[in-house]
Amino acid sequence: MRVSVIGCGYLGAVHAAAMADLGHDVIAVDVDAEKIATLRAGLPPFFEPGLPEILSTSLASGRLNFTTEMADVAGATVHFIAVGTPQSDASGAADLRFVDAALDALIPHLGPQDIVVGKSTVPVGTAERLAERLLTAGSTATLVWNPEFLREGFAVKDTLAPDRLVFGVAQGTGHDAALRALHEVYATAIAGGVPVVETDLATAELVKTAANAFLATKISFINAMSEIAEATGANVTELADAIGYDTRIGRRFLNAGVGFGGGCLPKDIRAFSARAEELGLGDSVAFLGEVDAINLRQRQRVIERVLTEGGGAETGLTVAVLGLAFKPHSDDVRDSPALDVALGLVAAGATVVAYDPEAMGAAQKRFPELVVAKNVDQALLGADIAVLVTEWPEFVELDPRRVGDLMTHKRIVDARNVLNPAQWRAEGFHYSSLGRP
Ligand SMILES: NC(=O)c1ccc[n+]([C@@H]2O[C@H](COP(=O)([O-])OP(=O)(O)OC[C@H]3O[C@@H](n4cnc5c(N)ncnc54)[C@H](O)[C@@H]3O)[C@@H](O)[C@H]2O)c1
Repeated sequence: MRVSVIGCGYLGAVHAAAMADLGHDVIAVDVDAEKIATLRAGLPPFFEPGLPEILSTSLASGRLNFTTEMADVAGATVHFIAVGTPQSDASGAADLRFVDAALDALIPHLGPQDIVVGKSTVPVGTAERLAERLLTAGSTATLVWNPEFLREGFAVKDTLAPDRLVFGVAQGTGHDAALRALHEVYATAIAGGVPVVETDLATAELVKTAANAFLATKISFINAMSEIAEATGANVTELADAIGYDTRIGRRFLNAGVGFGGGCLPKDIRAFSARAEELGLGDSVAFLGEVDAINLRQRQRVIERVLTEGGGAETGLTVAVLGLAFKPHSDDVRDSPALDVALGLVAAGATVVAYDPEAMGAAQKRFPELVVAKNVDQALLGADIAVLVTEWPEFVELDPRRVGDLMTHKRIVDARNVLNPAQWRAEGFHYSSLGRP
């Protein structure tokens, strides 16, 4: 099929390359000329395992092209909208300006039978509004919603073989043709057994919002338990193991630590709350305010723990911050708990030296004053205390003896509960984590 992808960020660039990898002819558009030049050269503008490979094979095959000119999408029949929907500063609501602008720019180039596929995460009701916008502009193209569930770090795999596909299509003219087109686009995944949920526009939008709200709640739940565990001498990891054996609960997303971040969960729960308020249903999701508060409290908890364990910032404390990305296998520092901890420690007066295998460029772009090391050893050298904030394998596998030799004092705060306390203590470390004695 001939498809276009509008927006070449973490979602769109992977989607475009994956669509071409599946055999479709893809034209990918972004307003960011620098990003397009980088992608054309076969260089992903961000770190994502597996993306360089499918990018270069798809570019070499001639099936993948990048442009800044929306007019180049003419000839494609399925158009994916993958632009950003960041948090608007004031209310927490999603900022839909990019979605509206992308659609408006696309409309003049649409054929009468084309399908416009929304992939961005949007508040419920947006798709209906955009469908009306199409109609008002005189277009007979059909607007559908096909939310994206990819996880950064696993984005290529998740795009090629997702857990499920959700096709939100309104009843009426274009319904059957749109479904047929979506089935054709995703034929490989569907043939491989990926389940498809066919539904209406509002449900499709809500599936994404609800999934992220649930995941965020699960993380904040276990973090709330870690606060209780800590005050009572209980062990939150053993608690999570034990409740996780219950298949109704499940063990995944039950790791206590510094909490969630990134370009999705935090903004998506805030946008959900804002949308519910608009609908007069704020009470229905009022718990998401608490989920957010627990999550942000974790960052403060870690900062305070480092200061306390290190003897206070006023002592001229030097802290090695291990991690800046919001999670491992990504360079994304949007709303990153790790970055917030690093900046919070600087604000408290500590001397911070940070290291992340992939995210230092992104972090320094935002905060040029942040001091970063060339490698983990350099970050640890002479530090009074280390704090592990992003669970990169390189940090999880650190040898406590070698780390102890580099540091001035053997103190570590494990803000992801991923190190073996006995092993670190055996090497003379003062080891501290969240919710574990
Ligand atoms: N990143 C993820 O893991 C992920 C997962 C699922 C869903 N989503 C959702 O996908 C959407 C995109 O997220 P992202 O992380 O890729 O954001 P991003 O900021 O990395 O990328 C957005 C891109 O859209 C481009 N853009 C903005 N306006 C444009 C326009 N008018 N025309 C063409 N391009 C335009 C920007 O230049 C940017 O490159 C969001 O709604 C997000 O919530 C993201």
